[in-house]
Amino acid sequence: MHPSIESVSFLLGTWRGQGQGGFPTINSFSYGEEISFIPSPTKPVIAYTQKTWKLSSGEPMHAESGFWRPKPDGSIEVVIAQSTGLVEVLKGRYDAQEKVVKLQSELVGNATKVREITRVFEILDGELSYVVQMATNLTSLQPHLKAVLKKL
Ligand code: HEM
Repeated sequence: MHPSIESVSFLLGTWRGQGQGGFPTINSFSYGEEISFIPSPTKPVIAYTQKTWKLSSGEPMHAESGFWRPKPDGSIEVVIAQSTGLVEVLKGRYDAQEKVVKLQSELVGNATKVREITRVFEILDGELSYVVQMATNLTSLQPHLKAVLKKL
């Protein structure tokens, strides 16, 4: 594994759990979720895949995939393509000690409403938790998603 990946190795593997979503303009909802972080064997790149489903029926909801590119200086760059057609480039920092990654969108593309996205991933008591916030054309930056997942 590339040394740059060692410092975010707390993310690696497959995680499954549940999340809650909401926003001022929509009804709140719950979802099941699985996330995988698979390191390249040689490059400083982690392949990221996420899928979600309705808890009641198992019917697929949102999915996304991309690449996480940690650098030795503590910075990280993430690209994500969403099943809705929206694409994101996020930049931020990781803390290997605190096991946290904080990301801020630098580019949101092919989006009708979304202007900005922030994502914070953190290991808490061995579980992966995250919060996603977004700003739209009508609403300032505020939470859309939060979830907690256990390592499989
Ligand atoms: C609604 C964006 C992830 C489920 C929305 C809306 C936007 C949006 C712009 C409409 C808000 C409005 O009308 O004012 C995003 C972005 C995401 C994301 C940028 C990731 C960064 C997810 C995920 C799920 C989800 C993971 C499901 C697990 C929903 C649902 C609604 C919604 C159920 C309300 C119904 C609807 O309008 O389709 N999202 N979303 N979203 N989102 Fe997300």
